[in-house]
Amino acid sequence: MSTLLQDLEQLRQEASAALAQTHSTEESEAWYREYLGRQGKLTGMLRGLGQLSKEERPVAGQVANTVKVALETALQARQEQIKQIEIERALSAEGIDVTLPGRPQTVGKLHPTTATMREILDIFGQMGFQVYDAREVETDDYNFGLLNFLPGHPARDMQDTFFTTTPDVILRTHTSPGQIHAMREYAPAPIRVVLPGKCFRNEDVTARSEMMFYQVEGLAVGRNITFSDLKGVLLNFANMMYGEGRKIRFRKSYFPFTEPSVEVDVDCILCGGKGCRICKQSGWLEILGAGMVHPTVLQNGGYDPAEFSGFAFGMGIERQTMLKRSVDDIRYFYENDVRFLDRVG
Ligand code: PHE
Repeated sequence: MSTLLQDLEQLRQEASAALAQTHSTEESEAWYREYLGRQGKLTGMLRGLGQLSKEERPVAGQVANTVKVALETALQARQEQIKQIEIERALSAEGIDVTLPGRPQTVGKLHPTTATMREILDIFGQMGFQVYDAREVETDDYNFGLLNFLPGHPARDMQDTFFTTTPDVILRTHTSPGQIHAMREYAPAPIRVVLPGKCFRNEDVTARSEMMFYQVEGLAVGRNITFSDLKGVLLNFANMMYGEGRKIRFRKSYFPFTEPSVEVDVDCILCGGKGCRICKQSGWLEILGAGMVHPTVLQNGGYDPAEFSGFAFGMGIERQTMLKRSVDDIRYFYENDVRFLDRVG
């Protein structure tokens, strides 16, 4: 009898000490299984009570029950403490140290082509030109015939044009076919439009030419439009795009859809005309092609050339970006190397 009471007391002490060493819900549950559970040590001892004599049994039973209740109460208290500890642990793990320096977020940029395109459209917008969106896939007629390209003109060569499997349907090689679309939509009303977009040429890719590139076309048609208007618009453009005080010069040229035709240069933005590596010592940089709309083209667009005149110009967007931002290879534009996009964009 006395040994049983001693064993119970020893178990109580052992269990209390073990309980104090539990630090998580799992550990406290394991402790419960070890001492109070169905296979537990105290439960085992309680079963032993059956072997005691009738007189001994109630005394031992009472002591055993006291131990059991004491341990259950202690477990409850410990589990409360553990819950508190666990909440604190979770809070400190999730805690934010507001004194840490922030992590910088890199912000995206416009693609250099998009940025330049918007700049150009904005400049012409201020001069009253509206944006006209024309298609990238064209018929041979719009890209060439209606623009007064004679049959057999070298620009129609297989080398320059991307054909499709549909006869006469091609990828436009310049934005000029949009001139015909715009004129046909608005004739005989006067128009002043800019036509931005992608163009495609089946050329070898080099530092100066890509298979896909962007152009902006300009077109003004009205009753009294002269070459001076073209000059004024382009001089204004050069000043707004490349800096106040810029000079431009016209060189005679040839395009089937303009007459007369010119190529337009701006004085070198790097050396101001003295001659340097960028302008190849000439002092000038070519920026675009232009001219007075050919009477045949006006007619194809629905305007009577006896009554109407107009000017047109076309420029490569990557080229403008290259001149303005000192880029020496057009292939950078669509390789999507972020170091380039980040510097030039
Ligand atoms: N379409 C010509 C080109 O691609 C540019 C141009 C447009 C020239 C309008 C004159 C008038 O080179």
